[in-house]
Amino acid sequence: MATSNAGHQQVVEATRPSARPSRVTAPSLKDMKARGEKIVMLTCYDYPSARLLDEAGIDVLLVGDSVGDNVLGYENTLPVTMDDMVHHAAAVSRGCRRALVVADMPFLSYQTSPEDALRNAGRLIKEAGVHAVKLEGGAFIASTVGKLVASGIPVMAHVGFTPQSVHQLGGYRIQGRDDQAAQNLLADARALEDAGAFAIVLELIPESLASRITEALTIPTIGIGAGPMCDGQVLVFHDVFGYTTRRQLRHVRRYADLAGTIKDAATRFAADVRSGEFPAGEPPPG
Ligand code: KIV
Repeated sequence: MATSNAGHQQVVEATRPSARPSRVTAPSLKDMKARGEKIVMLTCYDYPSARLLDEAGIDVLLVGDSVGDNVLGYENTLPVTMDDMVHHAAAVSRGCRRALVVADMPFLSYQTSPEDALRNAGRLIKEAGVHAVKLEGGAFIASTVGKLVASGIPVMAHVGFTPQSVHQLGGYRIQGRDDQAAQNLLADARALEDAGAFAIVLELIPESLASRITEALTIPTIGIGAGPMCDGQVLVFHDVFGYTTRRQLRHVRRYADLAGTIKDAATRFAADVRSGEFPAGEPPPG
């Protein structure tokens, strides 16, 4: 369902890249939190989309391992490889001038040892040209975060629902609901900040907990299904632009219907070829 919001035109103008031309960096996100300026992040997996999102003034492009279920046709993120990530991240980097490009480290590219984490994060920086990496997990991953940060690699953390643990978590469900689980998530977030993470994704946790974590940390929180109190918001490209046939999740807002547009155009193209209208006839208007 496309959502139009003409009343917010002034806000749109103020957030155009021409109004905010300088490159977004990992440290600058912390400054945005300090100024109370919301951080806008979308996932992105290819060059043309990167160019469009960058020109639209999106602050952070996340080359998510959600490339697995959104682009590569897998059921979840687990089969995604380092080679997949390097391939897609390099394309996104080539399309970006202003946005900070962050790439996900895929399942088992960093959990096995801090050395594996450093080698694989290094590939994303050196071969794909990204500015930072993201990895999932709480306090148990803090020493690995510390090693990457000490080596000069900015790290975005990710707690709450962590898709790489989907089997352990028993499906796609809200985390941190009871007091103990909420305490543990707060402790995880603090440990990751202490380890040097420059930002943290909070996925599928109660609004009240996201608000507590956001207040407790000096680094920005970026929410997905975590309510409005986070310092920024992230959504998946295919969900936002309706480039999917999947059912819409509750926390998603759809701003376009690319699936409908493409299907309609493809149907008309097929009809024109079959009737001989293409290439012989007049082109459609526009
Ligand atoms: O891979 C991804 O799309 C993500 C977002 C859900 C934050 O990690």
